[in-house]
Amino acid sequence: MSEVAEKIQEIGIVPVVVLNDAKDAAPLAKALCEGGLPCAEVTFRTDAAEESIRIMTKEFPQMFVGAGTVLTIGQVDRAVEAGAKFIVSPGFDPEIVDYCISKDIPVFPGCITPSEVAQAVKRGLKVVKFFPAAQFGGVSTIKALAAPYVGVKFMPTGGVNAKNLADYLGCDKIVACGGSWMVKGDLVKEGKFDEIKALVEEAVQLVADIRK
Ligand code: 3PG
Repeated sequence: MSEVAEKIQEIGIVPVVVLNDAKDAAPLAKALCEGGLPCAEVTFRTDAAEESIRIMTKEFPQMFVGAGTVLTIGQVDRAVEAGAKFIVSPGFDPEIVDYCISKDIPVFPGCITPSEVAQAVKRGLKVVKFFPAAQFGGVSTIKALAAPYVGVKFMPTGGVNAKNLADYLGCDKIVACGGSWMVKGDLVKEGKFDEIKALVEEAVQLVADIRK
């Protein structure tokens, strides 16, 4: 596994963040750091993503920030230039994956079928995203997919939360889970960063308990 994948595995959870306004990036990063989870996948679903990544990585150098929902090569460049350390895509886009590999940028494309995993394996990827996890069968599908592709591990996102985290992290084919349950859009919008910090603390404790 790459150094970045190992770091993600060590952390156990990647908060998936959707920020509508880059002014929320610093308080959110503060809540994540203080809650014990200095990590985020900032999604390019909003125009604020690039600036948010820049603010988080600049003002909180301890933050390990990646870019999510990356759908174009242009977004890869903008994310990396802003400070993103890894790229996540919801699906397997060969153009994006090949571009990242050619630039030595860690990339985690979404793979939910054997054909997609095969494409990833062909390119030497060892960890892929599995999205949307709940709708595509969760842990049991991951186990079935991992059986023929022995060297591949998964990062499920989509429907992961505090209630089912143990099921996911209990599977040795899963390096970490992504999720938005502790950084919900409403909480960010309403400036409830203390609540976010509490949810982050709870999630960090959960990972520790699961991995005991
Ligand atoms: C993602 O992009 O990984 C998902 O949107 C996160 O899914 P969740 O909101 O169900 O956690």
